[in-house]
Amino acid sequence: MSIFSTLILLFFFICSPSAAYLLNELQLPPHVTGPESLAFDRDGGGPYVGSSDGRIFRYNATGPRTGSFVEYGYSSPIRNKAMCDGLTDFSDLQTRCGRPLGLGFNHQTNELYVADAYFGLVKIGPNGGAPTQLVGSLIFADALDVDPETGIVYFAQSSANFQFRNLTTLLNSRDSSGSLFMYDPRTNQTRELLRGLAFPAGVSTSSDGSYVLVTEFLGRRIQRFWVRGDRANTSDIFANLLGSPDNIKRSPNNQFWVAVNNFLGPPPPPIPPVSARGVRYNANGFVLQVLSLLDEYGTQAVSEVQEFNGTLYGGSLFASYAAVFTPYL
Ligand SMILES: *[C@@H]1O[C@H](CO)[C@@H](O)[C@H](O)[C@H]1NC(C)=O
Ligand SMILES: *[C@@H]1O[C@H](CO)[C@@H](O)[C@H](O)[C@H]1NC(C)=O
Ligand SMILES: *[C@@H]1O[C@H](CO)[C@@H](O)[C@H](O)[C@H]1NC(C)=O
Ligand SMILES: *[C@@H]1O[C@H](CO)[C@@H](O)[C@H](O)[C@H]1NC(C)=O
Ligand SMILES: *[C@@H]1O[C@H](CO)[C@@H](O)[C@H](O)[C@H]1NC(C)=O
Repeated sequence: MSIFSTLILLFFFICSPSAAYLLNELQLPPHVTGPESLAFDRDGGGPYVGSSDGRIFRYNATGPRTGSFVEYGYSSPIRNKAMCDGLTDFSDLQTRCGRPLGLGFNHQTNELYVADAYFGLVKIGPNGGAPTQLVGSLIFADALDVDPETGIVYFAQSSANFQFRNLTTLLNSRDSSGSLFMYDPRTNQTRELLRGLAFPAGVSTSSDGSYVLVTEFLGRRIQRFWVRGDRANTSDIFANLLGSPDNIKRSPNNQFWVAVNNFLGPPPPPIPPVSARGVRYNANGFVLQVLSLLDEYGTQAVSEVQEFNGTLYGGSLFASYAAVFTPYL
């Protein structure tokens, strides 16, 4: 067999999805749903997840397969517990209760940064509780990542035209009004890095902080913005996809897990049935592994895949749990 046909075979082997074995479902408290993103603190505690009623929960493990989510904090500075607790997704009340989406810790300070769909970039102190709003005046903040060296927070505004409650309209549009921003906690300054993005939905820095990746859910690609070096302040295409990428998370060995949804049919709102996948990329944008998440999410969309302590964790806007899973070997 020639090297060429070996390579072709290898390519098909890598790109055909293998199944992921569901280990556990970490259930959210009653009524609330939508752990869209996950984070772990510097002591390995978590996962922390946002939810439909504006609260952020921390998973309190009491055994290898047992535990429960306990309230940690919230992302709306004007949240009213009596009015908001138990609220479901896409309620107009979320404009007051908050809708935490992207999460990420600064591991030096143990502060939790949150991209709240309605309240922009906020942070929660190391003991949880109430948020401090850092960048308001955003239409639909979604994803973020904290540079582990500098503490700079990179975050996305998914659209300048549609709010989170208008997600269905956004998904059926050709909107490209999204942006990538950076927030520097040392100066309290915010700068727009990229604009004209088609529903940016995920953000990840590289391990050395030299570039930032931003996914485009409607654009079906991942762009790379160079922070340092010869190409600083320019961007290029990291990868083009066949499906719609949501969150992107750096793995411990400087690879990236991307939650990817391939649409299967016409939309019953808010999102049509999908084939949900976790796709692992190397630092050069090559696909290394594709996992089918049928066991974890059926035909619902997956919003995040993250590797932590050698296990994979999944988030979804539509599930009432965070999934814990591992590839079949
Ligand atoms: C990850 O591993 C560390 C060290 O073994 C442990 O303390 C921590 O509880 C683990 N976290 C999770 C979420 O498994
Ligand atoms: C976590 O679980 C332990 C053991 O059940 C319990 O003692 C502790 O109070 C829980 N922590 C919180 C914050 O609920
Ligand atoms: C967004 O949704 C709200 C109701 O939730 C509606 O009043 C508004 O017109 C929608 N905006 C757009 C741009 O679709
Ligand atoms: C940071 O800047 C925002 C406006 O961009 C302002 O509202 C806020 O008070 C500032 N915070 C600090 C600590 O200076
Ligand atoms: C990138 O652009 C910013 C803002 O215009 C500027 O302050 C910075 O010096 C530029 N960096 C490089 C390496 O050119």
